[in-house]
Amino acid sequence: MEQLRFGFGGEERPAPKRPGPPNRMNDLSYKDWMKFQKSFFRHHSSQALVEECICFFTKAVWPDGEPSRCLIIGFADIDPSRIPAPRLVDAHNRCDSFDGVGRLLLEAEQAGLTYDFIFIDLRRLIVDEESLTTYLTGYADVVSRALRRLLAPRRYCGLVVGAPGPGGAGFPLPWSVAVASRRHLRLRDEKVGLVEGEGRIYYCLFLQADDDGRPADPLTPRGVRLARAGRPIPAWTTPKPPPRRPNEILHPAKYPETLVAEFLDLFTEPGDRVFDPMVGTGRTVVAAIRTGRHGYGVELTPHYTGIARERVARERAQPSPSGAHPVGLIVQGDATRLDGIPELAGLQFDYVVTSPPYWSMLTNPGSENQRARRQRNLPLVYSDDARDLGNIEDYDTFLALLQSVYEQVAAKLVDGGHLTVVVKNVKRDHILYPLAWDLVRRLCGADGKYDYVGTTLWCQDDVGMKPFAVGIHWVSNIVHTYCLHFRKR
Ligand SMILES: C[S@@+](CC[C@H](N)C(=O)[O-])C[C@H]1O[C@@H](n2cnc3c(N)ncnc32)[C@H](O)[C@@H]1O
Repeated sequence: MEQLRFGFGGEERPAPKRPGPPNRMNDLSYKDWMKFQKSFFRHHSSQALVEECICFFTKAVWPDGEPSRCLIIGFADIDPSRIPAPRLVDAHNRCDSFDGVGRLLLEAEQAGLTYDFIFIDLRRLIVDEESLTTYLTGYADVVSRALRRLLAPRRYCGLVVGAPGPGGAGFPLPWSVAVASRRHLRLRDEKVGLVEGEGRIYYCLFLQADDDGRPADPLTPRGVRLARAGRPIPAWTTPKPPPRRPNEILHPAKYPETLVAEFLDLFTEPGDRVFDPMVGTGRTVVAAIRTGRHGYGVELTPHYTGIARERVARERAQPSPSGAHPVGLIVQGDATRLDGIPELAGLQFDYVVTSPPYWSMLTNPGSENQRARRQRNLPLVYSDDARDLGNIEDYDTFLALLQSVYEQVAAKLVDGGHLTVVVKNVKRDHILYPLAWDLVRRLCGADGKYDYVGTTLWCQDDVGMKPFAVGIHWVSNIVHTYCLHFRKR
């Protein structure tokens, strides 16, 4: 996994050479640019984080001869003198209150300053539900408006927000901060820092000076809950799946059985019934059978239903070490109308794990998946069926339908049973649509059928980085996926 590694090391470095058109954004080599594009990293030090971000989001000197100017607030233990001239860095290490942050921004505005990058560490200020509420109600608007005014056109700022506790510490605090910032700034990307040894993560939220037109409706945190028998939910996992069989590569989006097996261990016992309403190539059911659970799946597309049935039959033909013969049932049907599927009538499930289409991400011609699959002549979408959730163009219509699927699932879950949804936030037209966070808000609202119990990030170390917008602007490779865990109320 990547560490942050291209700091200044206390010395001025010549701008590295890179091939291709001129780099309008920074002085990095192609290799260092690509290193930054990964959407998660192992935390090394705040100094490295700050240096890396300054290097990425600014040039030392802009083409008009002006040195770049950065404002750094709240990173207690960084040494700004290690960032060499001609860059100008206004650093305020000590900032112990939201008022302090507001005052520093106001002073900069009054001094008529404009910045090329602003980076604020809120990890010590937003630590729990109370401090989050104080920030959201009293400061978020003022801070994001000031950031917008202080940033030079098209430049970026970053907010660093901690997610205290492993996994399910209520709705993770950064989600609310990101959503609340959108009224005055454009949410461009999230990068997750993994703090090894502590099982903790934090978020770097990157925003650009522009409104992104999505409403600000922050999430409200809830109390911490744990998985079965009080077992803590891991904050992240990096499963190493075995290579895929040829007929599975045909499916555009799959998760590995090893990932499902981790969650089966966390939320179920052998002999339990496991269900996936959008089972694709049948991985949930295969993992269930392999670990001595009964597996049931629904899939819309006849083609993938066939592949799933084949795989399940193969798995069931394997000798079972426990002597048990788990059920493995794959039904072709529509997840938006679960009640209309006779094979499921009267069944109750102990656990549901599933991954929906990530909105219409597959039909987005600019998406990384589309480009890579077109090159290999593989199918670009699941189907052309109008009932396929991946074919719904409007984001809010898609979310409402997905919510209805999981509400129908709740009727088939035992009381207190868990649901895990594996999903990504989606980028479209230079905006981050926080699908994962929006889904949590919809399912766990006042009338919701579920409580949120935590998130495990599935961090993919084994995928190559793609050179999106190198030299032009900041577009990360999203290689972390949200595994959102819920419990039926
Ligand atoms: C992300 S994939 C699931 C992949 C699966 N977890 C695997 O590892 O193979 C989403 C699946 O949902 C299916 N799907 C989309 N709309 C559906 C609907 N209305 N009912 C049932 N399945 C649907 C798609 O055909 C696709 O196979």
